[in-house]
Parts: sequence; structure tokens; C-alpha cells
Amino acid sequence: MDNKPFRILALAGSLRQGSYNRGLLRAAQELAPDWVEVQFLDIGVLPFFNQDLEPGGGPEVVQRFKEAISNANAVLIATPEYNGAVPGVLANAIDWASRPPGHSVLRNKPVAVMGAVLGRSGSANAQAALRGTLGRIGAIVVPDPQVLVPHASRVFDEQVNLRDEGIREQIRQLVEAVADWCRRVQPDEPSSGVSATSSSS
Ligand SMILES: Cc1cc2nc3c(=O)[nH]c(=O)nc-3n(C[C@H](O)[C@H](O)[C@H](O)COP(=O)(O)O)c2cc1C
Repeated sequence: MDNKPFRILALAGSLRQGSYNRGLLRAAQELAPDWVEVQFLDIGVLPFFNQDLEPGGGPEVVQRFKEAISNANAVLIATPEYNGAVPGVLANAIDWASRPPGHSVLRNKPVAVMGAVLGRSGSANAQAALRGTLGRIGAIVVPDPQVLVPHASRVFDEQVNLRDEGIREQIRQLVEAVADWCRRVQPDEPSSGVSATSSSS
């Protein structure tokens, strides 16, 4: 993480190189105000959740993942839906982050969700399920704006850059909403002392 005062950890529910959802996260990086760092973390490095691995804090890579969540002001997730559900790789990451019960690093952490799919749903089913899971863990799920991207292949160019101005604006607003929620729930943290520089545009 660099010296920017406000940190958002970005997670994608797709490991694919040309993933549209990673494209959404890149757009969030581009559109974030200059006082916000959006840092991507690859959840594909995490092993399958196994409760036998938990004693002693779990594998090092899992500990680093949890630390990254802990050190971030907020988390931003972009996910497709697979067969109408949350992709396994993301469910696996959330399972690790949810532990130990009642003391998850996601507890009281603002988390925003968005998603892109090739179909018509825009990832609505996966997002609904994910919001439910995050709420159960105790995360503060940022309620809106909802960023649902159907027919994703139509709004990205060949380099997987998001070209749709309307969706780019929704993502910009979502990043601002994340910052707002952090100000509400982390008022004493130095890294959320961003009100003086926050954008009102
Ligand atoms: C296992 C699997 C299941 C999928 N199920 C759905 C689905 O339920 N609805 C949908 O719109 N697209 C579905 N798709 C297509 C995805 O929307 C498409 O692969 C999308 O590009 C995935 O996001 P990504 O570009 O970030 O990898 C599925 C794809 C896979 C691989």
C-alpha cells in the first residue's frame, strides 16, 4: 500500500486473465479520487478452505490475505455469477475471511459489491447471495449504488477497458459511497480523515 490516506482492497470473483470483473476493478482504480488507493489482491493464491489448516492462524498466504483486509479501510468486490451463484473461488476467499466466527476481519468493514456477466442478470443473483453472506459475517454492506453489468462483452473493448460512460459513472459513485460509509463507521482512524479532500463532484 502506498501513502494515500484511504485504502480499498479490490477482490475479483474471476481468475481469468481477460476477466470483465477485473476490468471493473481496473475502472475503479482509474476513477478513484487521487486520495484513494484501490489495490488488487489475487484470491486465486488461496488454498481451498480446510478447517484442519486453521490452528496456528492458518497458511501464511491466508494470514496475509486477512491482514490485507484488516489494513484496508474497505473492500470492493467485483464478481460474475456462475450458474446463478457466487463463484467458488470467491466463496472460498470469503470462507477464510469469515473465520474465526464473531472475530472476522470483515466484521464492521465496509464492503461494496459490483459485477459483470455475459447474460441478462448483470450478476444480480450472485450479488444478492454475496450481500447476504457478508451481512451474516458482520460486514457493513454498502447498499447502493448497485452496479450490475449485463451483456458485459458489449461494454468493454478488446483490452478489457470499460468503455460505457454510464457504468463508469456508477463505479465512481460506488467508490464515493464506500468512502462515505468509512467516514461513518471509522471516524477516528487517521486513514479515513479524508473529509477535507473528499470530492463533492
Ligand atoms: C461455470 C460458469 C457458469 C456461468 N454461469 C453464468 C450465469 O449463471 N449467468 C451468466 O450471465 N453468465 C454465466 N457465465 C458466463 C459468465 O458471465 C462469463 O464467463 C463472464 O465473462 C465471467 O466473468 P469474467 O469475465 O469476470 O470472467 C458462466 C460462466 C462459467 C465459467
